[in-house]
Amino acid sequence: MHLQGKSALVTGATSGIGQATAILLAREGARVALCGRRSERLQETARLIVAAGGTVLPLTMDVRGEGDCNEAVGKAVAEFGGLDVLVNNAGVMLLGSILNADTEDWRRMVDTNIMGLMYCTHAALPHMIAARSGHVVNISSTAGRTVRAGAGVYNLTKWGVGAFSEALRQEVHSHNVRVTIIEPGIVATELRDHITNENAKAAIETMARSITQLTSEDVARAIVYAVTQPTHVNVNEILLRPTQQAM
Ligand SMILES: NC(=O)c1ccc[n+]([C@@H]2O[C@H](COP(=O)([O-])OP(=O)(O)OC[C@H]3O[C@@H](n4cnc5c(N)ncnc54)[C@H](OP(=O)(O)O)[C@@H]3O)[C@@H](O)[C@H]2O)c1
Repeated sequence: MHLQGKSALVTGATSGIGQATAILLAREGARVALCGRRSERLQETARLIVAAGGTVLPLTMDVRGEGDCNEAVGKAVAEFGGLDVLVNNAGVMLLGSILNADTEDWRRMVDTNIMGLMYCTHAALPHMIAARSGHVVNISSTAGRTVRAGAGVYNLTKWGVGAFSEALRQEVHSHNVRVTIIEPGIVATELRDHITNENAKAAIETMARSITQLTSEDVARAIVYAVTQPTHVNVNEILLRPTQQAM
């Protein structure tokens, strides 16, 4: 129970990496605010945590709305008396070529993966700085390190997460606030189900199925590792790939 007495907010806690992370943080003793759009799935995550003896605050919200992000952080702070850990995990990966792309896919990725992460960070920082303690964990990807054709705008969002996180780290380290970037390779989650370009979807599915993918719990353990280090240790970056993934 390394996080007893601590509080956390996890965006995208309705499935995949976010759900596994919320469960693991709660298992370590943290009280966890769960965020996502699908209320049913939020309640499902909440039930799992409460059944294991944890404390949760389910918050139905959309990270693309600055008001939603402000409200979610405000409610978590009010309920828990502060916010020790923010996990900016909500994301979409709508792969496809730049040429002839559906630009609505671009807006969804930029608004969710970048703006949502920035809004939640902006809302949480004043509370962390006032407490002279806090930890922002931003979920990037190997796509934030390696660019490939057919992933241009997803790459753009995850490179953006990397740049924003490093600038943030330099700004807030003197306030005792830590920043960690998590960069997973292929993880078996629902992420690929939402791809609208059928060719891009088939290609990534084939690639994913040819290897033993990471599980959401593999990534959640990396996140818990980062946030349970002594406060003088700032784990800046964790890159984890499936062993069989080359790039
Ligand atoms: N799976 C991979 O291979 C992989 C690899 C590297 C990085 N990542 C990153 O890991 C993160 C989590 O993805 P995942 O793989 O766990 O996929 P997932 O199972 O599809 O989870 C995505 C989560 O994001 C939430 N979300 C999406 N749009 C949202 C919005 N507008 N407002 C609030 N929440 C929103 C979803 O909740 P609702 O739909 O309920 O809103 C869901 O809980 C993403 O940032 C992704 O880019 C994934």
